[in-house]
Amino acid sequence: MTNPISHSLLPDNSTVDDDGMLAIGGVRVDDLVAEYGTPLFVYDELHIRSRCQQAVNAFGDGVAYAAKAFLCTAMARIAHEEGMHIDVATMGEAYVALQAGVPAESLVFHGNNKSEDELRYAIDNRIGRIVIDSFDEIDRIERILSNTGETIQALIRVTPGIQASTHEYVATGQDDSKFGFTVSTGWAGEAVERVSSSDCIDLLGIHAHIGSQVFTLESFRRAAEVLADLSNLFQLSELSVGGGLGVAYLEEEETLDIEEWGQTIKKVCSESGVTARVTAEPGRAIVASAAVTLYTVGTIKKLPGIRTYVAVDGGMHDNPRPALYGSGYETFVPRRVEDPRNFPITLVGKHCESGDVIVSNGYAPDDLVVGDILATPVTGAYGHSMGSNYNKVLRPAVVFVNEGSHRLVIRREELSDLINTDIG
Ligand code: LLP
Repeated sequence: MTNPISHSLLPDNSTVDDDGMLAIGGVRVDDLVAEYGTPLFVYDELHIRSRCQQAVNAFGDGVAYAAKAFLCTAMARIAHEEGMHIDVATMGEAYVALQAGVPAESLVFHGNNKSEDELRYAIDNRIGRIVIDSFDEIDRIERILSNTGETIQALIRVTPGIQASTHEYVATGQDDSKFGFTVSTGWAGEAVERVSSSDCIDLLGIHAHIGSQVFTLESFRRAAEVLADLSNLFQLSELSVGGGLGVAYLEEEETLDIEEWGQTIKKVCSESGVTARVTAEPGRAIVASAAVTLYTVGTIKKLPGIRTYVAVDGGMHDNPRPALYGSGYETFVPRRVEDPRNFPITLVGKHCESGDVIVSNGYAPDDLVVGDILATPVTGAYGHSMGSNYNKVLRPAVVFVNEGSHRLVIRREELSDLINTDIG
C-alpha cells in the first residue's frame, strides 16, 4: 500500500474537488483535458510568480531566471514582471525573451562557445551582460568591437574547483569542466586582468555555476568563498553564484529553500567583506514544481510476476530526463488524487525504444483503466524545454492556470509544423 501523492510535490494552488478530482489554480484537471487534450503541461501561474518573488526577496536586484529550465514568451514576461533578470544561453533563448518584450538590459547572455553571430546579436541588441567563458571569446569580442567605439558590459565565468554532488552531466564547478576560467590554474585571475584592460569590455564582475540539482548548501558556501576572494582581490562590483538549487521530485526528497540559499551565500559574502552586488540565477527552483504533465493511458500490459507497463500518449519527447540522467518521478491519477496508490506500474511512452521510460517505479490506484488521465508532477523544468520531435511526435501544449482561469501559452504542434523547415 503506497500513500496518496503528497501535496508538497504538487503546484502550490492545487485543491481537490468533492468527487476526488485534482484542480490546479482553481481549474479541474478533467476540464483542462477536455479543452486541450493530452499530453498537456499545466503550470500554476501564481506558483511561478511566488518563486520569482522568493528569489527577488532572497537576492535582490539582478537575480536572474535561468530560461533554459522553461521558456516561452508568457514565461519570460512573468519573470520580468516579477522583477527578475533573465539568463539566456543562446541566441534563440535571447530572441524569445526579447520577443516577449523583456528589455535587453535585463538579459544575461551565457554560453561556453558563443559564436560570432551570437555575440553580434547580443551586442547589436544591447544585451545587458555577456558572461565571458574563454580566452577565445575575449578574442572574438575584441575582434567584433575593434574600431567601433562600442563597449559591452561583461561578467567573467570562473570555475571554482568545487565538485558538487549531483549527476555528472550537470556538475560544472569542478576543474575538469568545459565551462569557464579555472581558478586553480590562475586563468580566472588572468582573464579578469585581461578584460579589465580592454577598451571595449566593461568588466562588472564574476560568475560561477557549480551544477544543477545540488542539495548541499555547503557546496554553494564553498563556491561563494572562492568567488568572494576573487571579487575582493579585483574590487569588482557584481558576483553571481549561478543556479542549481535542488528540487524534490520524489516523496523522500526535500526541496531546498530559496531564502535559505540566499542567506547562506550572502552570509559568506558579508563575512568575507564583499562589497559587490551578490546575486544568483535559479531555473529549476522557479518552475519545476509549478507544473504537472497530464497523459492519457492507452495500453496496459500486465506481465505476470514481472511488471505492469502502462503506456501513455507522451514519452521521451516531452520528458527526456529519465532516459538521459536516470531521473525519477512520481505518478498519480488526478481523479483519485487523495487515494492510496497500491498498483505498482512502469510508466512508458509511445516511442520506438525500450529506454522510453517516464517512470520506472510508479504507482497508481488499482482501478486504473485505459482512457484514464495519469499525471507526473514536478515536470515544469527541463521537460518541455528539452523536448523534441523524435519519431515526428507533435510537441505538447502548455497551459497556464490562475485563479479559476486558464490560457494556452504554447499551442500543441500540428502535423504541418513537422515539415515547416523542409525544402523540396
Ligand atoms: N546558470 C547557468 C550558467 C546554468 O548553466 C544553469 C543550468 C543555471 C543557471 C540554472 O540551473 P538550475 O537552477 O536550473 O539548476 N537539463 C538538466 C539541467 C541542466 C542545467 C544546465 N544549466 C536537467 O534536466 O537536470
